Amino acid sequence: MARELSGREALRFLPTLRADPLVAISSLTRDQDLVRIPLPRGNQLVLTSRPELVGQVLVGYQDNYRKARTYRPLTELLGNGLLTNEDESWARQRRLVQPMFARRRIDAFAPAMVDAAGSAMDRWAALGGGSVVDVADEMSALTLDVVGRALFSADLSGEAGEMGPALETVLTAFVKVVRHPLFLLVPDYHRWPTPARLRARGAERHLRGVVDGLITRRRATPAGKDERDLLDALLAARDDDGNPLDEQQVRDELMTVLLAGHETTANALAWTLLLLSRHPDARQRLVAEVDDVLSGRAATAADLGKLEWTSAVLSESMRLYPPAWMIEREARQADELDGISVPAGSVVATPPYLVHRNPDHWPNPEGFDPRRFLPGAPERHRLAYLPFGGGRRQCVGGGFAMLEAVLLLATITQRFELDLVPGHQPQALTAVTLRPANGIPMTLRPRG
Ligand code: HEM
Repeated sequence: MARELSGREALRFLPTLRADPLVAISSLTRDQDLVRIPLPRGNQLVLTSRPELVGQVLVGYQDNYRKARTYRPLTELLGNGLLTNEDESWARQRRLVQPMFARRRIDAFAPAMVDAAGSAMDRWAALGGGSVVDVADEMSALTLDVVGRALFSADLSGEAGEMGPALETVLTAFVKVVRHPLFLLVPDYHRWPTPARLRARGAERHLRGVVDGLITRRRATPAGKDERDLLDALLAARDDDGNPLDEQQVRDELMTVLLAGHETTANALAWTLLLLSRHPDARQRLVAEVDDVLSGRAATAADLGKLEWTSAVLSESMRLYPPAWMIEREARQADELDGISVPAGSVVATPPYLVHRNPDHWPNPEGFDPRRFLPGAPERHRLAYLPFGGGRRQCVGGGFAMLEAVLLLATITQRFELDLVPGHQPQALTAVTLRPANGIPMTLRPRG
């Protein structure tokens, strides 16, 4: 069902959208899966949770839809990296980067992933049973460690202490900017030197310093003929004319992978641990599968296909809490979605958070049921589930992320069960990713 809000309804809706986007978009699409909202200055926001229409925007007619202006504040940090680039050069960059995430290459990162998880578990063991850890922070540090080891062969754990708060500052500024009323009205509002932006600039300088350090250190120890990791591959990459990436491009791609590759997976794991503590049956089945498949040894890439329940738990967790909760595009030319006109320049939002809870496609949409993702489960529309997006801009690191999440969750499960501290109510914060706003404190229970 489709609906167009009147100007007056839209005015009532906008403050809620700014204050709590999840509540706002969920309530708006409770009875319809396509809504057009008139915004100030003739702008339009079109919101849909219908997989067929998502397909039209992200796949079928994707030439007509560029990334929306909400991605613009990210360009301050990510420059022309793969995620934010909208130029002609995007396709060339994607051709260079994509092979670095081919299955064979990803599988080679598995030992680094499992080692990183093992170190974190040793640290937890030293804290002792009954200790409380914030799994939001812990997963963030762990996935940063994985990105550092696997993609840059670097130990970022020292830097993680400072990188965490720096990323936090950048993301806080992002939320402030995109929720500010002027963001819709002033094209380069995201560059205005507001206090939050000024703080973010300092943090961005720090993050760039870390990335520059990685590149400088690597240039001092060239790879020879064996590429060790993504950084070697980026430095060795040549375009169709045989030219290497320039310094700025290498920097932008590294920063992109650092941000896109750690924050998302960290949130997926943190929400998964929370859901498992709320669903003891699912956790019991996870423990049984991990013990059965691994019999106490370290997990490897070859186990991925056998850890079916582990994968299903993660997929279901990303259905309910998709780390990339929002995907937005801007129409280049006028279009029409199921009879609703989409004028040129409209923002079309296809939020995985809503699509994944669309009751026409998901029975008991709010319920946690990993069986939906087991082999043999009923077929669904291919865009009813899109944690990694769709069309040509879909995630380049999806395979890496799933391998990492499964291996990390299996390694954690071998060593610990975690229970949410009673009384704590984790809240979701809609930043670039869907993150826990107030942490997820959990009590460690060592196994056996
Ligand atoms: C659970 C983890 C992850 C989730 C949920 C996720 C989700 C997404 C989504 C939805 C997009 C598309 C955004 C859009 O269409 O506007 C995307 C793009 C991207 N992701 Fe991921 N991602 C994850 C992990 C990773 C990892 C591990 C890496 C790299 C190591 C990565 C690198 C990228 C890049 C470079 C893009 C831009 C691709 C392009 O536009 O060509 N992501 N991701």
